[in-house]
Amino acid sequence: MRLTVRDIQKMKANHEPIPVITAYDAPSARLSEAAGIPIILVGDSLGMVVQGHDTPVPVKLEHMIYHASIVSRVTTRPLIVGDLPFMTYSVSIEQALSNAARLMQEGGVGVVKLEGGEAFAPTIARLVTAGIPVMAHIGLLPQSVNQVGGMRVQGRDIEGARQLLRDAQAVQDAGAFAVVLESMPSELGRMITEQLTIPTIGIGAGLFCDGQVQVFHDIMGMFEDFIPRHTRRYAETGKTIREAVAAYADDVKARRFPTDENSFTLKDDVLNALYGDGKGALNGSVEQSHHDAQQSKIVASS
Ligand code: KIV
Repeated sequence: MRLTVRDIQKMKANHEPIPVITAYDAPSARLSEAAGIPIILVGDSLGMVVQGHDTPVPVKLEHMIYHASIVSRVTTRPLIVGDLPFMTYSVSIEQALSNAARLMQEGGVGVVKLEGGEAFAPTIARLVTAGIPVMAHIGLLPQSVNQVGGMRVQGRDIEGARQLLRDAQAVQDAGAFAVVLESMPSELGRMITEQLTIPTIGIGAGLFCDGQVQVFHDIMGMFEDFIPRHTRRYAETGKTIREAVAAYADDVKARRFPTDENSFTLKDDVLNALYGDGKGALNGSVEQSHHDAQQSKIVASS
């Protein structure tokens, strides 16, 4: 049975930490489910980590639906949250309603996530009234990176901190089932977590949030030249994959791959018939064929 928003809220009530991870494709979703992750976020971070952009701004609703539909189809237990991408919920409440409905119906998500605090409380309230569970997202808002001029830690001064406290309260009052706290001082992450009854899911917001969310590719160490401060690498798959691809290429070039183990053979009678009928594609003898094969092995190993 798939977990519900109520199951996740019970985790906060029971003081049980909530691990969340992003996934965008079948292997990462299946492996995350097998590892026991209760919430998978199909984040618009896919703009950066899958599509190779610098920001999530170019991500379209169709991309989110495509990736969400894969993740929801191949999993059975985790709650699937899908991001509403840039400008798909800010034009009007009607636009937010119809795009959230598409992400649920075509993408199969159980919850939609949107970026914004107090200003988006009316949108959140309307979605929730329509039966659409919402995860809010406050603090650093990657979709607004062009407006704020970079990926900066938020809430460091008094006014910024007070605004984040107001944002947190407003999204809870509007009916959000949980809220992501991105890039803010740990003390603020803790104050918000203590102030709210809904779960807080932190990324760069300190240890005291109810849960933590990380980007799959970051914790797997896929990007060798970029380690965000809020990330811990649990594997070095970037290095492992690069070395494996290079070893494969070397084997192909040196004719060490494929070997008999990776190849298929014809039975002798079929082979003889093909060589014997004079119409075979090779038009040669069995002996000649064996001779050629031997020669290429000698060349390869020399
Ligand atoms: O898009 C995303 O993956 C996110 C998380 C980093 C919170 O919003």
